[in-house]
Amino acid sequence: MSVLRRFLPVLLGVALAAGACGTGAPQFDGDAPTPEEVYGSCAFCHVGLAAAMTANGGHGTLSLPCEACHENLEPGFAQCGHRDIPLCADCHTAQITHHDPGVATTRQCTICHTPHGSPNLLLVRTGLPLSNPDNTTTPCSNDSDCTSIQLCASTDPTCGLAVRTGGCAAPITFTNLEGRADGSFASATDPGTGLCEVCHTTTLYYRSDGTGEPHFGLPCFPCHPHPRGFLPN
Ligand code: HEC
Ligand code: HEC
Ligand code: HEC
Ligand code: HEC
Ligand code: HEC
Ligand code: HEC
Repeated sequence: MSVLRRFLPVLLGVALAAGACGTGAPQFDGDAPTPEEVYGSCAFCHVGLAAAMTANGGHGTLSLPCEACHENLEPGFAQCGHRDIPLCADCHTAQITHHDPGVATTRQCTICHTPHGSPNLLLVRTGLPLSNPDNTTTPCSNDSDCTSIQLCASTDPTCGLAVRTGGCAAPITFTNLEGRADGSFASATDPGTGLCEVCHTTTLYYRSDGTGEPHFGLPCFPCHPHPRGFLPN
C-alpha cells in the first residue's frame, strides 16, 4: 500500500511530463537546470546534496523529487527528524543485499548504492565501504586511518541515525556491464579493484589482492542475480 502511495504521484508526474512535451520539461530548455529548479525549496538548505544529485542525473532520473522519498514529519520545522527516511525496500522489493552491515536499517543497500545520484551506473557509490567476512566495516574519521589506496567514506552524521554506512572504502568506477573489463564488475588491467572484487578476501575467485583461480569474465549478473543476493543460481 505504501509503495503505491509513494509511486502514484511519481508515475503521474512522469506520464504528464512525457505527454506534455516529449523530450524534457520546457522550462529546462537551453541551460542545465539548477538544483532549485529540480528540487525546489529542499535545495535551499540541502544544497550540497541537491547540487550533486542534479549534476549526476538524480535517482535514476531527475523526475523523482526529494518528497517522493522523504515524507513530511514535522511541518514548519527544518531540523533532524523533520522528514522521514525511507527503506530502499519500500520501493524495490526484488533485490537482495549482500554482506551488508546496514541490514534491516535505513542504511541497508547503501554499502554499494547511494540514493542521491552517482556518476557511476545504477547509483553505485564512488567510494564503497569494504565489508569483511564478519560483515563489518573498518571505522575511520579521515583518509589517513585507511590504507593508501583507500578513502574514508561516510555520510553526514548530524542526525545520528542508528547505523551509518561509512568506513574505509575503495574508489569505484562502474561505467559498463561487460564483466571482467575496466570500469565494470572485475578489473582487466588492475585485478582486485573492480566492484565485485574489492571486498573479497576469502573467495575462490576475484579477490581484492588480485589473486584467485580463473573464473568467468562474462557479465556476472546473469549467473549471480541480484534477487538472490548475488549467490550463483
Ligand atoms: C529515491 C529516494 C530518495 C530521494 C529521491 C532522495 N532521498 Fe534523501 N535519502 C534517501 C535514503 C534511502 C536515505 C538514507 C540513506 C542514506 O543516507 O544514504 C536518505 C538520506 C537523506 C538525508 C540524511 C542525511 C544522510 O545522508 O543520512 C538527507 C538530509 C536527505 N536524504 C535529503 C534529501 C534531499 C534534499 C533530496 C532531494 C534533493 C533527497 N534526499 C532525495 C532516499 C532518497
Ligand atoms: C530551512 C532549511 C531546510 C529546508 C528548506 C529543508 N531542510 Fe531538511 N534539514 C534541515 C536541517 C537543518 C536538518 C538537520 C541537519 C542536517 O541533516 O543537515 C535537516 C534534515 C533533513 C533530513 C534528515 C532527517 C533525519 O532525521 O535524519 C532529511 C531527510 C531532510 N532534511 C529532507 C528535506 C526535504 C525532502 C526537504 C524539502 C521538502 C527539506 N529537507 C527542506 C534543513 C532544511
Ligand atoms: C520512493 C520510492 C523509492 C525509494 C525509497 C528508493 N527508490 Fe530507487 N528508484 C525508484 C524509482 C521510481 C526509480 C526509477 C527512477 C527513474 O528512472 O526515473 C528508481 C531507480 C533506482 C535504480 C536504477 C537507477 C538507474 O540509474 O537506472 C537503482 C539502482 C535504485 N533505484 C536503487 C535504490 C536504492 C539502493 C534505494 C535506497 C537507498 C532506493 N533506490 C530507494 C524509487 C525508489
Ligand atoms: C554488493 C553491492 C550491492 C548491494 C549490497 C546492493 N546492490 Fe543493487 N546493484 C548492484 C549492482 C552491481 C547492480 C547492477 C547489476 C545488477 O543489476 O545485478 C545493481 C543494480 C540495482 C538495481 C537496478 C536493477 C535493474 O535491473 O536495473 C536496483 C533497483 C538495485 N540494485 C537495488 C538494490 C537494493 C534495493 C539493495 C538492497 C536490498 C541493493 N541494490 C544492494 C550492487 C549492489
Ligand atoms: C561491500 C563488499 C562486497 C562487495 C561490493 C561484493 N561482495 Fe561478494 N562478498 C563479500 C564478503 C564479505 C563475502 C564473504 C567472503 C569474503 O569475505 O571474501 C562475499 C562473498 C561472495 C560470494 C560467495 C558466497 C557468499 O555470499 O559468501 C559470492 C558468490 C560473491 N561474494 C559475489 C559477489 C558479486 C557477484 C559481487 C558484485 C556484484 C560482489 N560479490 C560484491 C562482500 C562483498
Ligand atoms: C556462467 C555463469 C557465471 C558467470 C558469468 C560468473 N560466475 Fe561467478 N560463479 C558461478 C558459479 C556457478 C559459482 C559457484 C561454483 C563455483 O564456485 O565455481 C560461482 C562462484 C563465484 C564466486 C564465489 C566463489 C567462492 O569462493 O565460493 C565469486 C566471488 C564469483 N563467482 C564472482 C564472479 C564475478 C565477479 C563474475 C563476473 C566478472 C562472475 N563470477 C561471473 C557462475 C558464474
